[in-house]
Amino acid sequence: MKAATSPAARSGGGDDVPNHVAIIMDGNGRWAAARGLPRGAGHERGVEALRRTVEAAGDLGISYLTVYSFSTENWRRPAEEVNALFGLLRAYVRRDLDRLRDKGVRIRIIGERESLPADLQELVQRAERETAENSDFHLTVAFNYGGRDEIVRAARRLAQDVIDGRLMPGQIDEAGFAGKLDTAGLPDPDLLIRTSGEQRTSNFLPWQCAYAEIVFANPLWPDFGGVALREAVDDYRARERRFGDVAPKAG
Ligand code: FPP
Repeated sequence: MKAATSPAARSGGGDDVPNHVAIIMDGNGRWAAARGLPRGAGHERGVEALRRTVEAAGDLGISYLTVYSFSTENWRRPAEEVNALFGLLRAYVRRDLDRLRDKGVRIRIIGERESLPADLQELVQRAERETAENSDFHLTVAFNYGGRDEIVRAARRLAQDVIDGRLMPGQIDEAGFAGKLDTAGLPDPDLLIRTSGEQRTSNFLPWQCAYAEIVFANPLWPDFGGVALREAVDDYRARERRFGDVAPKAG
């Protein structure tokens, strides 16, 4: 297995624009409640905010955007809302796939797949297959994703490699572990944004965000877009990233 790279090297960004931004898109329900609308209406407006944010991220020179759309814990919500979120992912892929593919966007879906409806599994496979050669922008949608679940699944894969004689326990290192995560091949996020003023990371990319700068932004997700993204990036630019060292490192 390869030696672990330093966190600074893994982040990959050359200038002060974050190379990889991860977003916890929070506040759809509150946005809807404030308008006397059903929660689903907030999620629908959330998809529009996602479209705006993908555009704005590309314009700002961000290369990787990873968004939290459905967590392993979201199964606790009423079945109607869970089904509505599945429906929104279906609609998003069906409606936006051709446009995103033609714009050079590579789409990845991370999270546990087997529990998703069969048609949705096929659809996300299609989105990944049809954009696999793209590299202008990387959009990763975390769907049925939980960070601890991802780490447990990675540990199982490593254990299987040991049982099959491909790996010795002493050969397991950080780079090898990261290579078994759903995010294998993606750089670590430089900036993690959570909207709606809540200040938690909620099991989103716990391994990958070990050195991410965190911005808690006030807008509810349906109100998010280019202006709020730029504000978060400006906040990030003012930070000093040291990665455990004494002197700042380029992020
Ligand atoms: C959190 O807000 C948001 C979610 C659990 C779903 C996020 C989904 C979208 C933005 C749209 C779906 C996009 C795709 C691509 C499927 P919340 O419902 O917890 O809001 P609240 O805290 O105000 O109740």
